[in-house]
Amino acid sequence: MNPDTVIITGASVGIGQAIAARARADGRRVINLSRRPCPIEGVENLAVDLAEAAQVADAVAALRARLGAPGRVHLIHNAAFPIGDSVTDFDAAACTRAMRINVVTPAELTAGLAPLLAPGSSVIFIGSTLSEKGVPGRLSYCASKHALVGLLRATVQDLFGAGIHTVCVCPGFVDTDLLDPIRARPELMQSVLSMVSFHRLLRPDEIADIVAFALINPSLNGTIIHANLGQREG
Ligand SMILES: NC(=O)c1ccc[n+]([C@@H]2O[C@H](COP(=O)([O-])OP(=O)(O)OC[C@H]3O[C@@H](n4cnc5c(N)ncnc54)[C@H](OP(=O)(O)O)[C@@H]3O)[C@@H](O)[C@H]2O)c1
Repeated sequence: MNPDTVIITGASVGIGQAIAARARADGRRVINLSRRPCPIEGVENLAVDLAEAAQVADAVAALRARLGAPGRVHLIHNAAFPIGDSVTDFDAAACTRAMRINVVTPAELTAGLAPLLAPGSSVIFIGSTLSEKGVPGRLSYCASKHALVGLLRATVQDLFGAGIHTVCVCPGFVDTDLLDPIRARPELMQSVLSMVSFHRLLRPDEIADIVAFALINPSLNGTIIHANLGQREG
């Protein structure tokens, strides 16, 4: 029997790379979509800028050709544009880019690949604590991550009865390049860690473990899983 295929966006670094490494270790075929390649051995790479509609359409066509026929496919929407704007410092162009990469492209990839997802497949959205919570200075990022919950719920309804499950995994603070602005300021890092019950950042492989569990558990269909070590409320 052919192995399951994982199609993941943004596996060149960070959480995506950890998910790709775990999927390869679990014996899955892995195809990554990002601008830089994923360095994990055996991962197939499609170079694509997920902000560019034409490149996303080409990627869908290339993936359809590579997959050939329907099979068990796990589509993991992981790439994101981490914009930091606000109500008083709004950047419409950056917001549009964030919505394209974080929301429109995942919807387009799911739509384009849906005919190839056989029963047993899954669609996984990588959300954030900010999928269900607001913080100052992250207006567009927060809106785009909330939108993923909308995609999750609507996708469950649209794929009802197809034997495909959909989950939104929401990490807390994970030690990746996305946190560079925080890593660069020790006082900010202290403030972040003081909000986390375990006083540490998550490792990318901890999120990869949650995703690996979500792929094979259809009972999770429609759920939001928070993996954040426990954060201070208020
Ligand atoms: N780290 C955290 O604390 C944290 C917390 C909550 C949620 N998350 C979420 O977890 C996911 C992964 O985050 P991360 O921390 O691993 O981020 P990261 O280390 O910055 O990696 C981001 C990935 O997205 C890809 N990407 C970004 N823009 C792209 C574009 N235009 N075209 C193609 N690929 C693009 C990058 O690939 P290329 O640059 O090679 O194209 C890279 O592989 C994101 O959805 C993020 O919102 C992270």
